[in-house]
Amino acid sequence: MRKIKLVLIALVAVLLAVVPAFAKKPIVIKFSHVVAVDTPKGQAAEYFKKLVEERSHGEIKVEVYPNSSLFNDNDVMTPLMTNAVQMAAPSFSKFTKFAKQLQLVDLPFLFDDSDHLHRVLEGPVGQKILDAVGSKGLVGLAFWDNGFKELSANKPIITPEDAAGMKFRIMSSKVLEAQFKAVNANPQVLPFSEVYSALQQGVVDAAENPLSNFYTKKFYEVQSDLTLSNHGYLGYLVVTNKMFWSSLNEQQRALISQAMKESTVYGNKLAQKMDEDYLAKVKESGKTTVHELTPAQRKAWKKALLPIYPEFYDSIGKDLIDGALAESKEM
Ligand code: LMR
Repeated sequence: MRKIKLVLIALVAVLLAVVPAFAKKPIVIKFSHVVAVDTPKGQAAEYFKKLVEERSHGEIKVEVYPNSSLFNDNDVMTPLMTNAVQMAAPSFSKFTKFAKQLQLVDLPFLFDDSDHLHRVLEGPVGQKILDAVGSKGLVGLAFWDNGFKELSANKPIITPEDAAGMKFRIMSSKVLEAQFKAVNANPQVLPFSEVYSALQQGVVDAAENPLSNFYTKKFYEVQSDLTLSNHGYLGYLVVTNKMFWSSLNEQQRALISQAMKESTVYGNKLAQKMDEDYLAKVKESGKTTVHELTPAQRKAWKKALLPIYPEFYDSIGKDLIDGALAESKEM
């Protein structure tokens, strides 16, 4: 009898230890993005996953879906808002439909360099951008870097006149549309996942991309010329939704915020290095000729593109544009 009792007690003890472990399902963060793993965003997302999973001891799991394997950026907003996806890091242009203010970052030649961009995003203008997405049920967690965009085509694009009549793939932003219309080109919105085949099949002739995207998506195979125009910036806003965010307790939110902070530093450092490394790789590929612009040629692009700014005083807000310009050290 005593033996049975002991066995029963032991069984109950084992059950008590094991059952909660099974019963407690981890919190899952589905993180959807569209670029390759070996890019600043791809690497920052992986680093974020590592930090969160290690520090939460498995309580929070991060599933990263790169390469548009879950959603492309144009489609991710709805699942993000309905909490089918908990995190994404779309480029600023992809927020156009929800918060027009974010098109600020698309304005050509707005930022002198990435330091200027950071001063703007870390100041009152950045706060207004976060407030704008906040009013749409999203929570902005961090700004992630990629880099300045370069123009590519199957012929050298050196002057604004060279772009006339060409079909350019753009992200869904009215600013980018106006930018190419200003040089009499023909902008076409396409999701990132379709750019390679569109260039290959001649659906579009040309594109604008930072070097890491240009190289990792093999655009050098289908574009013979790349101009280091640095005419506009491509960066990201990492977002979650309020439904998910408020379902977490304070500790979990703090853990995620800290991991996000560290991943941002990690990814942004990588972005600078990757820009240089991928330029070298594009050159090494021997498939794309890289062109630099002289100061006079760059000036001609500025002259052609800056006049679009007033078109966006209402939708972006003149205060935001002026606020960004005020942080320039070249003024
Ligand atoms: C694009 O569509 O070109 C970019 O937004 C892709 C990305 O996320 O870098």
